[in-house]
Amino acid sequence: MSRRVITFGTFDVFHVGHINILERARKEGGYLIVGVSSDALNFSKKQRYPIYSQADRIKILESLRFVDEVFVEESLELKAEYIQDAKADLLVMGDDWAGKFDEMKAYCDVKYLTRTPSISTTEIIEVVKSI
Ligand code: CTP
Repeated sequence: MSRRVITFGTFDVFHVGHINILERARKEGGYLIVGVSSDALNFSKKQRYPIYSQADRIKILESLRFVDEVFVEESLELKAEYIQDAKADLLVMGDDWAGKFDEMKAYCDVKYLTRTPSISTTEIIEVVKSI
C-alpha cells in the first residue's frame, strides 16, 4: 500500500547522508514530500544563512528521482499544519532527532531512521575551512 511520507531539513551543502535518508524515507511509503527550511528560518535558528540559497536547495531536492514534492518550511511552529496539509501518513527524521517529534504522532506515524555515520554539513564546512 502506498503511503505519503514527509520529512524536514535544511539539506545545505547536499551530501550522501541526505541522499541516504531521502532514499530510505521514500521506500517507507512510495511518495515523499520534503519540507526544506527557509533561509530566514535557518538564520533565526543558527544566526547564519545556509551556504546554498533556499532556491538552490529546493532545485537540488526537486531534481532527485525519489523526491516527489518540495515545499518551504517557514516556521518550526507549523509542523502539525504542514503534516496535515501534505496529508502525510508518516513523518521520517534522522535519529539525531529521536523522540523530538513524538508529539506529531497525533497526526501521523513517526519514524526515526539511523543517520549515515561520519558525514554532516557542519563537518564538511569545518573541513573546508581548515584547508
Ligand atoms: N541526515 C542523515 N545522515 C547524516 C546527516 C543528515 O540521515 N549523516 C539526515 C538528518 O537526520 C535529517 C536530514 O538528513 O533528517 C537533514 O539533515 P540536515 O540537518 O539538513 O543535515 P546535516 O548534515 O545534519 O546538517 P548540520 O550539520 O548543519 O546539522
